[in-house]
Amino acid sequence: NSCILVGAPVDSGKKRAGCLMGPDAYRVAGLTTALEDLGLDVQDWGNVAAEPADVPASLPQHIFEPALTIGWTTALIDATERAMAEGLPVFLGGDHSLSLGTVVGAANHAAKTNRPQFVLWLDAHTDFHTPQTTASGNLHGTPLGYASGREGFDGFPEVRNPVPFGNICFLGLRSVDPDERLFLQDTDALCHDMRTIDEKGIARPLAAFLDDVARAGGALHVSLDVDFLDPTYAPAVGTTVPGGATIREAHLVMEMICDSGLMTSLDLVELNPHLDERGRTAQVMVDLAASALGRRVFDRPTGVF
Ligand code: ARG
Ligand code: MN
Ligand code: MN
Ligand code: MN
Repeated sequence: NSCILVGAPVDSGKKRAGCLMGPDAYRVAGLTTALEDLGLDVQDWGNVAAEPADVPASLPQHIFEPALTIGWTTALIDATERAMAEGLPVFLGGDHSLSLGTVVGAANHAAKTNRPQFVLWLDAHTDFHTPQTTASGNLHGTPLGYASGREGFDGFPEVRNPVPFGNICFLGLRSVDPDERLFLQDTDALCHDMRTIDEKGIARPLAAFLDDVARAGGALHVSLDVDFLDPTYAPAVGTTVPGGATIREAHLVMEMICDSGLMTSLDLVELNPHLDERGRTAQVMVDLAASALGRRVFDRPTGVF
């Protein structure tokens, strides 16, 4: 059972440059050895490349760099389907617009194997916009709008297996735009904001969701945005929002995901090495990936919650 590193140096999803250096930063921070030390077979497939695509005139004009992001989406759907046939892909971002490709590719793979696709979104933001609702025009705010089958993504590949809203769980929310909030309020998506985490702890809502996935026999895509973490611990991100998850909460999430045995694909997104301090954010992300894939301080009996 292989772990496949897929570099996705996507930088077209927002205006501030730097996420294209993310895959190299993860490699320099020792991701391969960290996973090999867990006894995993690690394959590094290098970085995916993309060509700019044609953009239809019907796509709203304020959208930033749509030609490149459409190209990345096409390339990453393909790379994801190929990687999932071989093992568990870890996508090294790149900004969050890479998930337009990875979530759709993962859902296509799940459909082939007759499993429902679930998504755990670890992020300060919901990233549920469409090209029509985004005020910023930044496509990194749209991957779940796209992958759940919302209309308006003219020029993008067709979403053949939209992820049902009720199969999506958000953890760590603290910056949701009015349009996203209005839309999500009328769905059965599980929207856990920081208040929920403060009131209930982070383990209980997560355990309930993992139970749902297990009962449904689902495939689980985990998307970890650097800004899930508090900027104190993870400064290397363009969209810092105060009041985020601690290192301890984030590791617990990763350890519980690992114990569940449900994760089938993982995104590490929004790392901007240009904003980092001596590589410490890259290191935190590598350590979290290791926890998700089996690193632990001590073994313990399962079924604690
Ligand atoms: N909702 C805001 C927007 O649409 C912020 C999105 C931030 N997304 C991210 N992947 N960091 O611009
Ligand atoms: Mn498979
Ligand atoms: Mn995000
Ligand atoms: Mn975010």
